[in-house]
Amino acid sequence: MSAISARFLPVEGGDNTHLISAMRGHNQSAGGHPILETDRLKLVAMEKDDVEQMSRWDESPDVRKYFVANAYALSEPEREKEMFDTWLEETEKGVMCFYKVVLKKGVAAKRGKERPIGMAGWHQTGDIPGRYELWLYIAEGKWLNKGLGTEIVKELTRALFECYGAHTVMLCWHAYNLRGRRCYIDKCGFKYEARRREATSWEGEYFDMEIASITREEYKRLKKDGVYGDT
Ligand SMILES: CC(C)(COP(=O)(O)OP(=O)(O)OC[C@H]1O[C@@H](n2cnc3c(N)ncnc32)[C@H](O)[C@@H]1OP(=O)(O)O)[C@@H](O)C(=O)NCCC(=O)NCCS
Repeated sequence: MSAISARFLPVEGGDNTHLISAMRGHNQSAGGHPILETDRLKLVAMEKDDVEQMSRWDESPDVRKYFVANAYALSEPEREKEMFDTWLEETEKGVMCFYKVVLKKGVAAKRGKERPIGMAGWHQTGDIPGRYELWLYIAEGKWLNKGLGTEIVKELTRALFECYGAHTVMLCWHAYNLRGRRCYIDKCGFKYEARRREATSWEGEYFDMEIASITREEYKRLKKDGVYGDT
């Protein structure tokens, strides 16, 4: 196999220089996925040793309310463990990538070390070719509302269009997650797609889920408009 993983195929004519250089030589993580980088973050594919850390993150109040939410997922740790194992397998197979989000050196404090603060990922939705779903969370409260979510969503979206041949990139969120909505729609250019009524629950009440997406044509326009320039 060449230095660039077979499952990471730069799209012809794509403006993907920084992503391709991320793949050259040594810059790969589990499953041959590239280590992605933004100004302040690295996204490194998760491995088995990271799962414990993720279970701890699931206890963060913001992650519980806005990411996990459904009661069944909270009350059954075995179910979570099984889910993580499946995610890790799928990451190895390349149909999904499950990253830890790491603050780069010097971001938290001038001489601070690298530090994981959350997770993010994508998977192929399986309904039509080229449709991918993203997800993410930042588990430490003090790192919310600092533009990091915007960096993550943009970098994953860019990677999927430029290098994985995506046709559509989508994400969904609990309708009460107004911060998520602002990040995805207003700051990252996702277009509102649908509302699934009472499709999730939190503390015994049902809530709607919202979905937004970007198609390849829209991505090209967003790039032209500078929303998806290099970070
Ligand atoms: C959702 C999430 C990924 C966004 O990342 P982030 O780094 O906090 O987001 P950003 O700072 O890039 O953007 C958030 C924007 O929402 C705004 N915002 C915050 N609370 C808000 C609210 N209640 N209503 C509307 N906007 C809000 C922020 O001010 C910011 O906008 P601005 O830059 O114009 O000021 C992150 O907040 C998170 O992980 N939350 C907890 C778990 C979660 O919700 N995961 C996503 C599940 S779909």
